Amino acid sequence: MHELVYANKTPMSYRKEFGQFFTPKNVARLMFKWIVSSNPKTILDPAFGLGIFFDVFQDTLKSNTYDTKYIGYEIDQNIISYLENNRPSNLKLHVRDYLEEKKKKYDAIICNPPYMRFQNFLKRHDVLPIIEKNLGIALNGYSNMASIFLIKSLKELNEGGKLAYIMPFEFFNTGYGKGVKKELLKNSLLKQIIFFENEKDIFSDATTTVCVLLCKNDSIKNTVKISRIESLKQLEGISHFEEYFQHQLQPEDLPYTKKWSPIISSLYQTIEIPTGLVKISEIGKFVRGIATGANKFFALTEEKAESLSINRNNLVKCITKSPQIKKAIFTDDDYMALLKSGSPVLCLNVKAHNDKNIKQYLKYGEAQGFSVRYLTKKRSPWYKLESRLPAPILAGVFNRGRLKVIRNFTDSINFTCFHSFYPGLFGQTYINRLFVYLISDIGQKIVMTNKRQYGGHLDKFEPGDLNACFCPSTEQFDMTSEKDAMHIIELAISDEEKAIQKANVLVQTMLNT
Ligand SMILES: C[S@@+](CC[C@H](N)C(=O)[O-])C[C@H]1O[C@@H](n2cnc3c(N)ncnc32)[C@H](O)[C@@H]1O
Repeated sequence: MHELVYANKTPMSYRKEFGQFFTPKNVARLMFKWIVSSNPKTILDPAFGLGIFFDVFQDTLKSNTYDTKYIGYEIDQNIISYLENNRPSNLKLHVRDYLEEKKKKYDAIICNPPYMRFQNFLKRHDVLPIIEKNLGIALNGYSNMASIFLIKSLKELNEGGKLAYIMPFEFFNTGYGKGVKKELLKNSLLKQIIFFENEKDIFSDATTTVCVLLCKNDSIKNTVKISRIESLKQLEGISHFEEYFQHQLQPEDLPYTKKWSPIISSLYQTIEIPTGLVKISEIGKFVRGIATGANKFFALTEEKAESLSINRNNLVKCITKSPQIKKAIFTDDDYMALLKSGSPVLCLNVKAHNDKNIKQYLKYGEAQGFSVRYLTKKRSPWYKLESRLPAPILAGVFNRGRLKVIRNFTDSINFTCFHSFYPGLFGQTYINRLFVYLISDIGQKIVMTNKRQYGGHLDKFEPGDLNACFCPSTEQFDMTSEKDAMHIIELAISDEEKAIQKANVLVQTMLNT
């Protein structure tokens, strides 16, 4: 309530100068629940303001008995004059600059820091070297005040201690934010990021998008929970922040050198599937590539095959590793270039079982134990290759960012590094148009909704995931011609980016039926 009185009596320009924006009580309560659960003996509130966090602390004292000291810092004497004079004995309020204070240790820290740019803050030049000396790290003068507050507080957390901080969401994406993110990831401090979708609804005061960070100094490497809160109503239904989250990221998925907002936003991206689309399984089928059970034995370079005198009847052209194909279109020339550069793109496919050179190589394989591997021992004979035809479209199994889609114009088969697409009866006519759809941005977005996420931004697809993806129906494909698709494929040989742009236009025509 006293916030309203203060806000009414204080010009906005003054509040801005000190970064005086107040935490809504329901957010303060949830932040407080996080820090108090480890029974802190000391709680630090580095930007006290009108003391909303202290009010919550006092409220909870009514039902709990803590022997806890509450330490607050507030730089502005004026705002302090709005507080009641007879302060409780468990509160120690320092009317001083928190950043200039020597580093101390606390069991819990709770804060809504000022957000303004550090360079706009009074006494910047005097203060920065003092803070740097205190913290033992070099700081970026362009930092946001909030980031410097957070770095200091992270260093002041006792072992086992908990911290809850409100931060402007954009610091995740700035240059100076890198240093802060690095500190957050150090010793696995960061446990949860809660961001507010319609922050005006919750933080009516804030001029920027804000999030809450929850940290614990326990050195336990867990996943980082990600929560999105869309409305006040949703917030009211939450009893503990840590129980409310939609995603969990491995710390490696949040590299401090990368912008975090796109990483987090991408978790919530939903895409409206245009009408009329059908499952890829109606056009054809993705199946996994050949599993040999012993790629080292089966995949041969031209040189090795020659040195073993294995003739070409017993070899098939084969893509054996994903990096062998770098471009979206794979032609005979590309295959020959790989072969001549010494890539293992020949696969043993024994036809002449009695050939003496073959027998010798098989004997070598048996001596090396390749015949009793998990897959080979179940086959008869153990070196029998799974039967697969060359597939006209290949899709990457593991992908980063975009799904790797290849139009294969060669008669090479492929190992499990790619899934192979075989058109069905109705799909035969649409191979090129399906490929164009799959490389287009909209096709990629739709397909990506079926991905499985691995650590380090790695996405995996099983053949079933791809077969369940949506693609245009034959009627929609028919809105464009084979000639249009071939143009794009030819363009992709020399300029993939332009080809994707053209693919986007063509797919629009398919979908606007
Ligand atoms: C965003 S407000 C938060 C106030 C209150 N804790 C809340 O959550 O509603 C930040 C407060 O920090 C104070 N402040 C700004 N710079 C400070 C500094 N260097 N040291 C201590 N307090 C500071 C401001 O005057 C302001 O009251």
